[in-house]
Amino acid sequence: MKRGLFITFEGGEGGGKSTQLPIAAEYLRQQGIAVIMTREPGGTVVGESIRAVLLNPELPAMHPDTELLLMFAARNEHIQRTILPALNQGQWVLCDRFTDATYAYQGFGRGLNQDRIAKLETWVQGVLRPDHTLLFDLAVDIGMGRAKKRGAADRFEQEHLAFFERIRAGYLARAQQYPQQYRIVQAEHSLEQVTAQMLHYLDEFMAEVGR
Ligand code: TMP
Repeated sequence: MKRGLFITFEGGEGGGKSTQLPIAAEYLRQQGIAVIMTREPGGTVVGESIRAVLLNPELPAMHPDTELLLMFAARNEHIQRTILPALNQGQWVLCDRFTDATYAYQGFGRGLNQDRIAKLETWVQGVLRPDHTLLFDLAVDIGMGRAKKRGAADRFEQEHLAFFERIRAGYLARAQQYPQQYRIVQAEHSLEQVTAQMLHYLDEFMAEVGR
């Protein structure tokens, strides 16, 4: 059986990736592709429990290395129980955030050493990397404005604008560094325009694997 494609959805807050992900899944299913949708941190029972700790704004501040290790603990569970089994069965995996978020948030945002993240990446993932990443990019103030309308802020959303500016710059730097992996979606536009850009990239990914 041909392995499925692993596609991750990335970006700062309020870029619409979580709204667009089910639209992408539906589009691919219409083309006869088996798809699962999942997210990080989370995607398993244990991972979702780790997510609750990571996002809880009432917990005292966490050491940045603790945050990093919890992200990878949740990721290990997710890879072993959800992502690899699905890919090996030929399903495409659409994942709302993955390790690029760790480079952006814990690396560029919190200032953790990139080599350290890379070591954990290799340790937990082996050779597993996303086949493609859709980066939903938009100005930080616009994204934060949209995110605020969703309700109470989680532990990350409480951070300052400068934190999110570093994250945006970090994602864009990675997109430049890995042009084969990344496609940038201009997320400031209307929902329909953002969807259209995303579907165009999905067509490209399908064509690459002869679907
Ligand atoms: P979400 O808001 O997209 O559901 O993601 C949850 C938060 O977790 C978001 O603020 C980004 C953060 N995050 C990291 O800091 N590092 C990671 O590796 C992942 C996957 C998410």
